Amino acid sequence: MSEQQKVYPVTPELAESAWINKEQYAAMYKESIESPDTFWGEQGKRIDWIKPYTKVKNTSFDSHNVDIRWYEDGTLNASYNCLDRHLEKRGDQVAIIWEGDNPNEDKKITYRELYHEVCRFANGLKKLGVKKGEVVTLYMPMVPEAAIAMLACARIGAVHSVIFGGFSPDAIASRVVESSSRVVITSDEGYRGGKNVPLKENVDDGLNNPNVKTVEHVVVLKRTGGDVDWNADRDVWWHELIADCADECPIEEMNAEDPLFILFTSGSTGAPKGLKHTTGGYMVYASMTHQYIFDYKPGEVYWCTADVGWITGHTYIVYGPLANGGTTLMFEGVPSYPDYGRFGQVCDKHQVNIFYTAPTAVRALMAQGDDVMDSSSRSSIRLLASVGEPINPEAWEWYYRVMGNSKCPIIDTWWQTETGGILIAPLAGVTDLKPGCASIPFFGVQPALVDSEGRILEGETEGNLVILDAWPGQGRSIWGDHERFVQTYFTTYKGMYFTGDGCRRDADGLYWITGRVDDVINVSGHRMGTAEVESAMVAHPSVAEAAVVGYPHDIKGQGIYVYVTLNDDVEATDDLKKELIKWVRKEIGPIASPDLIQFSAGLPKTRSGKIMRRILRKIAANETDGLGDTSTLADPSVVDELIENRLAR
Ligand code: WTA
Repeated sequence: MSEQQKVYPVTPELAESAWINKEQYAAMYKESIESPDTFWGEQGKRIDWIKPYTKVKNTSFDSHNVDIRWYEDGTLNASYNCLDRHLEKRGDQVAIIWEGDNPNEDKKITYRELYHEVCRFANGLKKLGVKKGEVVTLYMPMVPEAAIAMLACARIGAVHSVIFGGFSPDAIASRVVESSSRVVITSDEGYRGGKNVPLKENVDDGLNNPNVKTVEHVVVLKRTGGDVDWNADRDVWWHELIADCADECPIEEMNAEDPLFILFTSGSTGAPKGLKHTTGGYMVYASMTHQYIFDYKPGEVYWCTADVGWITGHTYIVYGPLANGGTTLMFEGVPSYPDYGRFGQVCDKHQVNIFYTAPTAVRALMAQGDDVMDSSSRSSIRLLASVGEPINPEAWEWYYRVMGNSKCPIIDTWWQTETGGILIAPLAGVTDLKPGCASIPFFGVQPALVDSEGRILEGETEGNLVILDAWPGQGRSIWGDHERFVQTYFTTYKGMYFTGDGCRRDADGLYWITGRVDDVINVSGHRMGTAEVESAMVAHPSVAEAAVVGYPHDIKGQGIYVYVTLNDDVEATDDLKKELIKWVRKEIGPIASPDLIQFSAGLPKTRSGKIMRRILRKIAANETDGLGDTSTLADPSVVDELIENRLAR
């Protein structure tokens, strides 16, 4: 691989114009590791504090006492940092450019307008009795009101919990239960790719679940005007709620370690967990990474295509860009509607300078051929970025050549819901680019590779990616279950944060993420626990047992392959397969739809009854020659049957 590795050196212009060059990076990185208190003490000033901090870093990764605090005696408000402090200088500058699903619909909102909208909605929430510290659930389409609701919560000290609009009623129910939300904010429907998404109906179904006992109010934004059921005791229209609300609202003074939001994410075991992010360190880190990693300059138009339902939307559509007084573009639609040229057309229309998307979107466009971008020039773009999964070199080259007209650096950003912000990425003025390489750690980030015993590996090598010390944007806990937080991230390798990813370090010391090493799969950049899909499957009355693995998929990166053993009296039919797919969509959501379902009489198990997923992964990947040792299987003949009946694709 490394022989034919193409390298795209930092251009002299970028070395000159970017926020940071090689020498600066080296000096700043060194200081960030050797003197974190000095470094982050200085960087913390990029945020406005009500009461300035006197302490900076106070963190422990010791598995007996995981405790992460930054700026712990400072107070601030995140909404103030995204809005109020910009009013004097850039009140009339556009904060959010919104582009509708329908290409004829768009909107520009200035900082002043956004400020007033947020204040009004914050007053609306107060009318509903929302108090500091309580969790408010959002289930919203990609409209400015999603950001407005987040910032309104932050303004009054409520903790938002955004649920991605692609999740099912059952998923809404379990998350609402977990967070004991009293208030849910949604919309009548959303638009996506020319279709209506029944958001309010999903919320109604979810809240009908008998386990949901806390919800008192559902605020409904009118987006499409479609028909919705109405529960007059519980539901209130957004526009009616704020009709008589003042457009000024005082901020709540928050401690740096007060929670800003929770966000549910999948792990290798159990139900999705609500990662808890706090206010001070998160804001410092979101703002700093947004500025330096995207090389964001004042006045530029920046577009991150993620949904606000994911961490990428939180940090790099809302908090990072707005803390920096930037112009952030929010897109309601999908890359393929009305046609696959849409991303380019939107870039031209709004003169986008910085564009941030996921490899799965790049591959979907690439599959259409180079002329898919002919309807746009994309000449305004100067920097491209990627997130969500490893970007394969073919997709990287296409992104570079077609989307970026062979003139834009590609910033491949590695991070996680847990990390709050980007941890590993090239910097435009610093790093020579290698397609597919996440490259170098950001300031304060100490990556290391360990073997299965947790021994640190040096030099050019491959291993499990861990981070040795805390950074300000890091998630602090799992909502209501700190022990699970400790167990999940800090016990596999003592004293280190375990990412769940595998990684290679090359001869130049650059990091290449190789993908998950646990039972998490990454489907179109959406993270999913195989255990979650399995438990949905076995909840179906016809299913005796199920095992889920990822397999290589040209567009999605990974597809979902399910092995199912049916109950004795059940017939294996194609109709049943369809029903099972529908079932999983209902239990989790469309993003968890199985791609392939193989019925099988049995699953390969060890004598102690453990399913050997290694074998199932190989069969799903069509790599049946190298199955490795099968001698520990209770019944090796199961494997032959599985291979014989494996599915074509
Ligand atoms: C994967 C998304 C390779 C990785 C921000 C990680 C990546 C998981 C990259 C987190 C990248 C994300 N290169 N892999 N640039 N970015 N990943 O929590 O496996 O939705 O652990 O956060 O996505 O997914 P999450």
